[in-house]
Amino acid sequence: MSGQGKSDFIVLEGPDGSGKSTQARLLAEKLAAQGRECLLVREPGGTALGERVREILLDKAETGMDARGELFLFLACRAQLVAEVIRPALARGAVVLSDRFMLSTLVYQGIAGGLPLAEIREAGRIATGGLAPELTLVLDVPAEIGLSRRPGAQDRIEMKGVEFHRRVREGYLSLAREDSSARVIDGARPLAEVEKSVWELAHAVLC
Ligand code: TYD
Repeated sequence: MSGQGKSDFIVLEGPDGSGKSTQARLLAEKLAAQGRECLLVREPGGTALGERVREILLDKAETGMDARGELFLFLACRAQLVAEVIRPALARGAVVLSDRFMLSTLVYQGIAGGLPLAEIREAGRIATGGLAPELTLVLDVPAEIGLSRRPGAQDRIEMKGVEFHRRVREGYLSLAREDSSARVIDGARPLAEVEKSVWELAHAVLC
């Protein structure tokens, strides 16, 4: 927990349709079966306020959203989630699994969306108070596979098109190389194989 020693904070990341929400749920179930208190949260959302802001962020009718306005809405959700849910849970010794965190913002709003990474890092530090995960698992899938796993109704971010989502995938791979907490997992393999990799890596870092 950034400057405060080791914490059981794990983040699952990856492009839309990478399977991370399923893997986060499976990991949470396994930890619970071992008797660990485990809290699974998702971003944007995870609090009453965050879920309301999530509706705005994903609403297809919001066609003119300014890139910096969008950034601050994602960060507002995160600030609330960290203060209301994540820090108290870590403080009482629970494992916290978050479906997305800062890396999503760096990739979607930064590398794919065009905002400077340094600005996002600075604003992100203010939103989170410097909280950082012990482990970030990046499920890697090609954009086409990810988007094809999500046929039908697309939200405002999924609608940004395949080129945007290619940049998202490349962004994850390049930022994961610089992030000492990040491990990349091939998410295109069968679910049970991905589940095994997630478990091995997560189990190795938990207190
Ligand atoms: P969600 O339905 O949770 O997508 P997924 O199930 O793939 O996680 O919607 C979240 C969308 O918001 C997703 O397209 C990624 C995007 N996003 C950002 O652009 N920036 C962020 O900081 C976060 C947390 C999510």
